[in-house]
Amino acid sequence: MCGIIGYLGKNEASPILLESLRRLEYRGYDSAGITTIHNGKLFVKKAAGRLVNLADLLVKEPIRGKIGIGHTRWATHGKATTINAHPQSSNNVSVVHNGIIENYKEIKKQLIEEGYFFRSETDTEVIPLLCQKFLDQGYSYTDSVHQTVDLLKGQYAICFLFENNDDLIFLARSGSPLVIGHSRSTTYVASDALALAGLTKEITYLEDGDTAAISREGTTIFDSSHKNVHRSKTFVSINAIDLQKGGFKHYMLKEIHEQPKALAKAIQTVTSENWLDEASVGNLPLDEIEGVNLLGCGTAEYACMIASYWFENLAKLPGRTEIASEFKYRDPIIKPNDLSIFVSQSGETADTLSALRYVIKNKGHNLSILNNLASTMAKESTYSLPIHADLELSVASTKAFTCQLVILAGLALELGKIRKNLSRKEYEQYREGLLNLPGYINIILDLSEEIRKIAQFLTECPNALFIGRGLMFPTALEGALKLKEISYIHAEGMAAGELKHGPISLIERTFPTVVLAPSDYLFDKTKSNMEEIQSRNGPIILLSDARGIDDVGKDVDFSLTLPKVHPLLTPIIYTIPLQLLAYHSGVIKGLDVDNPRHLAKSVTVE
Ligand code: F6R
Repeated sequence: MCGIIGYLGKNEASPILLESLRRLEYRGYDSAGITTIHNGKLFVKKAAGRLVNLADLLVKEPIRGKIGIGHTRWATHGKATTINAHPQSSNNVSVVHNGIIENYKEIKKQLIEEGYFFRSETDTEVIPLLCQKFLDQGYSYTDSVHQTVDLLKGQYAICFLFENNDDLIFLARSGSPLVIGHSRSTTYVASDALALAGLTKEITYLEDGDTAAISREGTTIFDSSHKNVHRSKTFVSINAIDLQKGGFKHYMLKEIHEQPKALAKAIQTVTSENWLDEASVGNLPLDEIEGVNLLGCGTAEYACMIASYWFENLAKLPGRTEIASEFKYRDPIIKPNDLSIFVSQSGETADTLSALRYVIKNKGHNLSILNNLASTMAKESTYSLPIHADLELSVASTKAFTCQLVILAGLALELGKIRKNLSRKEYEQYREGLLNLPGYINIILDLSEEIRKIAQFLTECPNALFIGRGLMFPTALEGALKLKEISYIHAEGMAAGELKHGPISLIERTFPTVVLAPSDYLFDKTKSNMEEIQSRNGPIILLSDARGIDDVGKDVDFSLTLPKVHPLLTPIIYTIPLQLLAYHSGVIKGLDVDNPRHLAKSVTVE
């Protein structure tokens, strides 16, 4: 979602702000802007649309100053226009803000009554105006910021700049991440340490409720009661090189191709002896667990759905999947011996975080499965496990999803062992199945050109259906999500058996169905569904293994032969061609596959 950057140093701020905003582009945004201070005066430049529009504006109308703040906005309150872009400013205060001010309407009404004038439709504009009001009343910068944040409800990461003070950036954090980066004569601010790659590795993470005053003299941090507090510096290992595309045209393609390596790392972890002890999860009383709740959003939720089959099959533990955004609205019962597992790439997804907080409040066992170990969820969960996917920059989750699946499979296997539901032989078969996965994924990556031809056909159709049974059902949901978000082709995923309960009425010549059907005990049933579709003129794209394709491949419009793997691991294998299908469809349609419209990488609002 929105991205924040700040700079206080010896060089001109605007090129540095712009470059750092480029590193935040992956998060998704629809307008951008910066403020600098020169000779005591605030200079604000903003542009709707891509960052290149702001860059062009800055070429035509350059602004000077060795202090500045910048922002990429993902619209929540008010359209993606220049006037609604951040920074939002009053006469003397300029602000960039991530998050949502929930009580902005009340504050706005009050300020209007007091004679303050609003220009934008944003919730953010109340922040500079409120701060301006306290400055007008004679309060110091520090007191004005503290009085302002004390009145705000919601979540925020905010940077303040003040006219006539080119030696002060004030920060406030509550619910949205904010970091300070230190280098010799320069201080940086960012909503994501990634934006500072190549600039500094020395980072201070602000905690919830913190505010901070940054000047050339140093940084003072205050806690939620506005008392001075020390926050230690940590070193992050992100290199500028990690942010390059490594010869691929898009991050998405690079990340799809990184899967054999990323999965090998995750698989090595979960197949080593006592891996849970080493991952510091050893104290979780796994032998007492009687049920598993799995929570996540979007792709992460589909990982949860797949894993619920594994927990039931491998460990005979009831596994229940929950859409994190719906969880707390039904007053869920948290049983003392249930384990709630939260799955999130970013560790910042507001809905998943709020579900985690609900479980913690109700004293439930909790474990988060995360890619970002410096995230809020990592800090707040009792236990967390890394997925080893490394940086994922494309908005669509690809390698994070398959790495999440490996860790979840490893956990289900471990529980199967602990609960004595798996014989040594069965365990070894699963282990071997996992170890073989990276090699099979390489085989599928070689099918890219074949998949591109199928994508060519798909892009001629306005709709597509993805169906499967058993583990192929959540895999179908993921395939449909990936296609719709990347190619804007309307796609639905569905349990194959549900087709005849309504959706089959949609089938016609231009409505293809992607059928996921490994040759297992469900194959014949799915085959019947294919026949039902074909007898209504619906085109079929069949993904199966050699045996399945031998059986029905000649009768379908397109087929793709995938390796035969351990039956429980098919979701990991069948996901790879679906990722490539979505990728090629987006590219054929000339779309920005790394930054699909309206989407953000990390969804930090509920
Ligand atoms: C889809 C996608 C999203 C995310 C979802 C959760 O490709 O990326 O559906 O999976 O927004 O994000 P995280 O995993 O960061 O919690």
